[in-house]
Amino acid sequence: MAKLALENVRKIYKNGYEAVHNFSLEIEEGEFLILVGPSGCGKSTLLRMIAGLEDITSGELWMDGEIGNYKEPGERNLAMVFQNYALYPNMSVYDNIAFSLSVRKKDKEEIDRKVHETAKLLGIEQLLDRRPGELSGGQKQRVAIGNAIIRNPRALLMDEPLSNLDAKLRTQMRVELAALQHKMKTTTIYVTHDQTEAMTLGSRIVVMKEGEMQQVDTPANLYDAPANKFVAGFIGTPSMNFFEAQAVREEEGVLLLVGEHRIRLSGEDAARLRAHGADKVWLGIRPEDIAVSAPQEGRQTERRPGWKEGLLADGNYLEVLITDIELLGAEKLLIFLLYGKKYVAKVPAETQVKTGEQRRLYLNMAAAHLFDCATEKRI
Ligand SMILES: Nc1ncnc2c1ncn2[C@@H]1O[C@H](COP(=O)(O)OP(=O)(O)O)[C@@H](O)[C@H]1O
Ligand SMILES: [Mg+2]
Repeated sequence: MAKLALENVRKIYKNGYEAVHNFSLEIEEGEFLILVGPSGCGKSTLLRMIAGLEDITSGELWMDGEIGNYKEPGERNLAMVFQNYALYPNMSVYDNIAFSLSVRKKDKEEIDRKVHETAKLLGIEQLLDRRPGELSGGQKQRVAIGNAIIRNPRALLMDEPLSNLDAKLRTQMRVELAALQHKMKTTTIYVTHDQTEAMTLGSRIVVMKEGEMQQVDTPANLYDAPANKFVAGFIGTPSMNFFEAQAVREEEGVLLLVGEHRIRLSGEDAARLRAHGADKVWLGIRPEDIAVSAPQEGRQTERRPGWKEGLLADGNYLEVLITDIELLGAEKLLIFLLYGKKYVAKVPAETQVKTGEQRRLYLNMAAAHLFDCATEKRI
């Protein structure tokens, strides 16, 4: 039995706006589930409906096999962790962690045992006498989580808890959070608009757009087999490039015409495209699957499986104009222009390229993604 389940859940706000359409999902015991999507896609609305802070317009919320729609927030046994951690500044760490038990007038000894147990789990036993003002961001996060999990909630709900932090701290806290959840094994639903955060945290990720679920999958599958053009463009930085292509069926394989470029598709991709029958497709290539030189010249050959095989097929290149170069450290981004549109390639930092140059860029066709131009679904 799923810990929590949503069945055809919809949310229509009073002003008539439908923020969530027909959303169905099962969340398993102990799972770390991420809800990700651009701002305004309905993530907070969903989380608030689960928490009981917002009515469910139609559909069902199941909690351990019972309908939860009409339960008061306090009866749902869910804990929410907020962005600012909502700690009491004048109370010690001990009292902050104990808070939800002490307001329920639990036995002092039991509270003491639980506070110590929780603090030990979170690795903050030595901080129990401090006040929130004397803690680092990571320590505050642990205290807030301690306060949330001490009553052993059915699930932990987190709405963009790291979004107030600077980039460096965010990366650090994200790593901590993943390790903590792994240790606590508390069922967790975590909302973020940041795909990098989603990809590093979750074992399962739900990608949303405009109130609709686009795909639910592991990070690896979202990256390697995005269900549609939206997911493909949303997951990965910089975003996947999309070239509009005309598909021409040949005796063997398929030819993709991108302007005057003739890119040959073979193997499974060609077979799938033939079976699908689309004439107009989006050819999706991630920036890291584009190289400046042919594979035998560079070290790019070993970077990804299939890279070599993909490149050796003739004609898998585009003649482009390099307009900008952005150094990232070990790699650099080449911004290039093709038929009036800008795209991005990610290459090793030592690659010799200059802005203003006309260059031939090679595509790793073994890592290509094809989407139907009409439906935007993966082919
Ligand atoms: N109380 C409300 N009344 C009407 N529309 C709302 C209300 N709250 C949120 N919305 C709208 O619902 C959509 C989803 O909002 P929200 O769930 O907060 O998105 P997210 O958390 O993904 O950024 C947005 O378009 C938002 O403007
Ligand atoms: Mg939100």
